[in-house]
Amino acid sequence: MKPPVLLNPGPVNVTPRVRDALLRGDMCHREIEVSDLMGGIRQKLLKVFDIEDEFTAVLISGSGTAALEMGVSSCLSPGKSMLIIQNGVYGERIGKIADIYKFPKHVLNYEWGEPPSLEDVENALKEHPDIEVVALVHHETTTGLLNPIQPISQLAREYGKKFLIDCISSLAGDEVNFKTCSIDFAIGTANKCLQGLPGVAFVFFRKKDLCRLNYIPDRSLYFNLLKHHGAQEAGDMLFTPAIQIHYALDEALDELMEETVQGRILRYKEAAELFRTGFSEIGLEFLIPEGHRSNCLTALRLPEGIDYAGLHAHLKKKGFVIYAGQGNLQNKIFRIANMGDIKKEDIETCLQILKECCSAKTQ
Ligand SMILES: Cc1ncc(COP(=O)(O)O)c(C=O)c1O
Repeated sequence: MKPPVLLNPGPVNVTPRVRDALLRGDMCHREIEVSDLMGGIRQKLLKVFDIEDEFTAVLISGSGTAALEMGVSSCLSPGKSMLIIQNGVYGERIGKIADIYKFPKHVLNYEWGEPPSLEDVENALKEHPDIEVVALVHHETTTGLLNPIQPISQLAREYGKKFLIDCISSLAGDEVNFKTCSIDFAIGTANKCLQGLPGVAFVFFRKKDLCRLNYIPDRSLYFNLLKHHGAQEAGDMLFTPAIQIHYALDEALDELMEETVQGRILRYKEAAELFRTGFSEIGLEFLIPEGHRSNCLTALRLPEGIDYAGLHAHLKKKGFVIYAGQGNLQNKIFRIANMGDIKKEDIETCLQILKECCSAKTQ
């Protein structure tokens, strides 16, 4: 049976080549084969994003939140605080992690979908010299808003701060320019725009920050960036990794290398444009204005008379999985992502079904 077309923002449809890599064979994680696999993945990650000279990559078995918790909990020096910019579920998640680790924090809160004000960021940096790390979600998957990492990274740099981004749902789908953006920590995962499978995620950080990070006391056993880094640099690993999921990521990175990051960004942009042209023709209303939308996901207001559960069930029956709104946006919006191995014909069929659903309601 054909698997459903996944229009949720990850886990995504992968190619048969990536799925088949799961069957590379059973292996003990303390053997050289797995050490080589992990080392190869770390290298490929750095190479494909062209950041080998300045960054190092640390893998963690777990979902994107595992890498986020590892990065956030390990990045702050004792006695310093974080500035967290929140305009959706995932920015708020960074805030929750900071609270769990009892980090002093300053928060800039915005309505979900509202871009942050650079003036607010600069004022916070001026007012609170104790801030060491500024944290922001690049693509706020809650709404499909692309946050402005470039100018915020510039402010962070001007004020001598570290800049941490959650690019879990944007890396390889929207531009993350490590050359022009002053990014110190970037959090990513296998099963979104990288087109691997769920179960492994990673943190990139600057090699030159290693000395500072080494002085930070251990705060967690599993989510300890420096301990994982040390073990992985030595060709070892702290705990049992999700080996087969790493096989799939390894293959997915080869695919990405062949397609190139720019090529994939363009493919996603074109897929989003195809969807959005269709949404406009149907008369659907966008949550996020043009110019602020990611390449990866579109949030749409639910038309009058259409309830999300019914729409989801109907599309699922036809082979398409769409995604609900969260929190206050539940039953007000629905989301359609275009990450993964999705074909143009699938997009056209999905639009046709959506059109039928919407016109049936207006007749
Ligand atoms: C921006 C962002 N951050 C974090 C996460 C959490 O990832 P996971 O569900 O893999 O833990 C997601 C998931 O969609 C996300 O989109």
